[in-house]
Amino acid sequence: MISRRTFLAGSALGACGAGLGLAGLRAVSAATPMELTAHETAAVLDGTSLTEGVMTWNEGPLPPVIRVRRDEAFAARLVNRLAEPTTIHWHGLRIPNAMDGVPFLTQPYIYQGETFDYAFRAPDAGTFWYHPHCNTLTQIGRGMTGLFIVENPDDPAFDHEMALNLRDWRLDEKGRFIAQFKARDAARTGTFGTVRTANWQVAPRQEAPAGGLMRLRIAITDVTRIYRFVLEGASALVIALDGNPVAAPFPLDRLELGPGQRVDLAVVMPAEEGAVVRLSNTRTTHPYEIASFRSTGSSLGRSLGDVTPLPANPVAEPDLAAASVIPLELSATAEAAPAGGSICGSLGYNFWAINKVPWSGDTPEPHTPIDELKLGRSYVLELANRTPHAHPIHLHGMSFRAIESTNGPVLPHFTDTYLIRPDERVRLALVADNPGDWVFHCHVIEHQKTGMTGFFRVV
Ligand code: C2O
Ligand code: CU
Repeated sequence: MISRRTFLAGSALGACGAGLGLAGLRAVSAATPMELTAHETAAVLDGTSLTEGVMTWNEGPLPPVIRVRRDEAFAARLVNRLAEPTTIHWHGLRIPNAMDGVPFLTQPYIYQGETFDYAFRAPDAGTFWYHPHCNTLTQIGRGMTGLFIVENPDDPAFDHEMALNLRDWRLDEKGRFIAQFKARDAARTGTFGTVRTANWQVAPRQEAPAGGLMRLRIAITDVTRIYRFVLEGASALVIALDGNPVAAPFPLDRLELGPGQRVDLAVVMPAEEGAVVRLSNTRTTHPYEIASFRSTGSSLGRSLGDVTPLPANPVAEPDLAAASVIPLELSATAEAAPAGGSICGSLGYNFWAINKVPWSGDTPEPHTPIDELKLGRSYVLELANRTPHAHPIHLHGMSFRAIESTNGPVLPHFTDTYLIRPDERVRLALVADNPGDWVFHCHVIEHQKTGMTGFFRVV
């Protein structure tokens, strides 16, 4: 087993692309670091009782929404005041490997009382988020998910902007945390929360200018739940998915997205003051309201015709003719559970595997990548879901594009997470343009932590 000290020595030798990471670090050292202090707090999450043992960063209770400009130097010092180790992963950001926040693979985990300095420039504008990659089910489950918004000065103007962080909590009727997962559910869809919130409130109502054009950024940071979005009382266009603009905005029509995914909507608020727009999730047996928006003031008179596409992000277009194909199989496994616990890793079960190998990630072993990719070359990940469940499969460090699926037409946008359906086969194309070890895992965190994790090495 690799000790933490050996890891530190090893990474300095550039084993994980740390050399390039450090170069990136120097380039952005001008930014004044913001402090992100991880700690426990208490908060009202179900609307009535105070929940103890909530985890967040800074004063909270909701983690700070971080806003930067594309290509701007950003720096954050993680200060760990939790009673356990943690890290921060910047979900969807194509940044140097050393800043990726994955214990053992890209950095040591950060003990209580220690700090870690992150510094990078976000190359893509859009809606992203951040979360720990250590004891992830508990730390995310108890609150550690924050939005990371990258602005583009060339984005079209909106009259109003709102960001929603969607997630559930596993609480009893007195607002106390209950077990974060049930093993039998981890082996199926994952364990659902009991209290459903947007920005840590149950069905919050917010105000937006009447007749105004609102940019609504939605991030699913829940560990389990897949959403089907329906908006009533207003028309809306999808302008970006998973932090990447769609070339041609299209109407929001029961769009389904899974854990880790984001959507940016352009919403025209009703012209009449007091009219209410409702956002619901209809993927549950009993559809429920996520949040609502009330028109205020006199109408700004905007229409969907005022919506223009967002400028594209600088993601390299894969060369399909030259691409090598990597077959990937998601399956259930009956392999024995990993021996012994690790600090950031195992839940004590193996239910899932990628190419027959189960790994819970965030552990010192194994250090064998699924495959080694050549820097700058194009690849097609030919992914087959051999399970009866949907998996939001997520790749760190690089964006890919779905090009073909057995389930019919795919949305032609770059993404970091693809929601693969039961028995679906999909081809995901990418340019391996970011050196280092990049994790590839299901973002249903129980699936991730019970085997559906692997990593690619780009050299
Ligand atoms: Cu948001 Cu490794 O993931
Ligand atoms: Cu999964």
